[in-house]
Amino acid sequence: LGTFIAAAEAQTYPTRSITMIVPFAAGGPTDVVARIVTSHMAQTLGQSIIIENVVGAGGTTATTRAARAANDGYTLITGHMGTHAASVPLYPKLAYHPEKDFEPIALLAGTPILILARKDFPPKDLNEFVAYVKANAEKVNAAHAGVGSVSHVSCELLHSILDIKPVGVPFNGTGPAMNALVGGQVDYMCDQIVNAVPQINAGTIKAYAIATPERNPSLPNVPTTAEAGLPKFQAQAWNAMFAPKGTSPAVVASLNAAAVKALDDETVRKRLLELGSVIPGPAERTPESLAALVKNEIAKWTPVLKPAT
Ligand code: MLT
Repeated sequence: LGTFIAAAEAQTYPTRSITMIVPFAAGGPTDVVARIVTSHMAQTLGQSIIIENVVGAGGTTATTRAARAANDGYTLITGHMGTHAASVPLYPKLAYHPEKDFEPIALLAGTPILILARKDFPPKDLNEFVAYVKANAEKVNAAHAGVGSVSHVSCELLHSILDIKPVGVPFNGTGPAMNALVGGQVDYMCDQIVNAVPQINAGTIKAYAIATPERNPSLPNVPTTAEAGLPKFQAQAWNAMFAPKGTSPAVVASLNAAAVKALDDETVRKRLLELGSVIPGPAERTPESLAALVKNEIAKWTPVLKPAT
């Protein structure tokens, strides 16, 4: 009977619009990736997918809401390395557990981290940046998207390498943080590439380095941290789609198939690549591989972040 019900559900789901919770402000990297992928998924599924930006507490407010939502496939979340890994060591009272309270659907994008600064920040290159922030650690500030967000965690890693503790300036997402960087109200930020490519190309901010082993094709002139003199700073985040625990395997399979189809679509791929994302290969798109990623990322970040709390 169970198999029969699951098969019937797979044939009918979805019968109404789906809400996709995005745990940060509109216009930031999570929002942008979610919108690109879900607009294609909506065509496949034959129902609209409505993005709901729910901000606060480094994405954990929204993720708590998603964990508690009905597990009927009509409320989903696009989470990331912060909400589904770094939050575990950073929030001792976290009201959800990324592994226990969600059904992984699919990895959507890898998002390399860049060290960015306001256009008129004095250092000209990464070596000068390192010297400057070390000499002025009490004066400089770093924008981020709340404790446990990717921008926060990435700059925590950078700061621990440089052995400094500058002031952090929290925003509801790196969309608004980027606006403040462009406006010169904050000094620097460790942000995901998706948010940065248009601004770097427009010359409204500076990019010192990309924290991945290779340069990114969307930013061929931005050196890697290794090339620029700080090889220890390596950071790449990711965005992925999850459903509340107990969502039926048939629904998860439909959503996964729609996400995979979106990642194979030429227009979706072009848009994600233009923004510097790394598109997951076939083996990385399964719910099982996302479950393994979440597990590994929690294990990776817990010892790095625990001493800071
Ligand atoms: C966002 O979408 O605003 C970012 O992913 C926030 C972050 O984690 O830095």
